[in-house]
Amino acid sequence: YFIMRDKKKQNYSDTVKHIAFIMDGNGRWAKKRFMPREYGHKFGADKFREIAEYCRDLGIRYVTFYAFSTENWKRPENEVKAIMKLFIDYLDNALETLTDDVGVVFLGSKEPFSEDIRKRMTDIEEETKSREKKLCIAINYGGHAEIVDAVNKLISEGKTSVTEEDITNSIYSGVCPPPDIIVRTGGEMRLSNFLMWQSAYSELFFLDTLWPDLKKSDVDDVLKQFGKRKRRFGGV
Ligand code: IPE
Ligand code: IPE
Ligand code: MG
Repeated sequence: YFIMRDKKKQNYSDTVKHIAFIMDGNGRWAKKRFMPREYGHKFGADKFREIAEYCRDLGIRYVTFYAFSTENWKRPENEVKAIMKLFIDYLDNALETLTDDVGVVFLGSKEPFSEDIRKRMTDIEEETKSREKKLCIAINYGGHAEIVDAVNKLISEGKTSVTEEDITNSIYSGVCPPPDIIVRTGGEMRLSNFLMWQSAYSELFFLDTLWPDLKKSDVDDVLKQFGKRKRRFGGV
């Protein structure tokens, strides 16, 4: 016990700047328990808080979670409502539960949300803007929409041709470096429109574990494996 307590906690601040999670598998997790999909989302939301805090403790400066895609509006109304309710619950207590070194950034268009919700989102962003670490929540997020929005923004600013740098600076996550690591739980091996621009050289990890079952030690395993991967970025 003494040895465990004294063991120095791993710190990844130098080696992993940005880790991103595709939180998939809530519905199947609930189904396995003969419960409605909404039940899985509730546990998924708790897991999101736990993993966000854990990554922060590990010293990772940028942590991103895919919470709701532009395509997820296609789901049954009840399920969409339940997810939005969980999102509003999060907005209600985000400021009290965040540690004072973590700022929130929402990735995605805020347009479909009501004025009240949009204001609460921007208030949280503004209030935590100067904080060093970032918790990015992708909600109503689509990688294609993000690029289209960025290009339209540049056009409205008068640009007639754009550079890679222009797009990098105009996408929702302008403040964040591209993710070093993208983890998808739930067993599917695809990105489902997540960070299309930013994922060009991300290391991908696909775990069979359903999101609500993810353990901190699974994150440790990913980080350990990441340390062994050879990133070349097209070089030799
Ligand atoms: C959560 O997992 C991701 C969200 C879209 C909120 P799912 O709801 O997609 O769960 P599965 O993939 O159906 O198990
Ligand atoms: C991706 O999961 C979106 C989120 C995790 C928020 P989906 O469950 O929507 O992806 P598909 O439909 O299996 O590709
Ligand atoms: Mg899914």
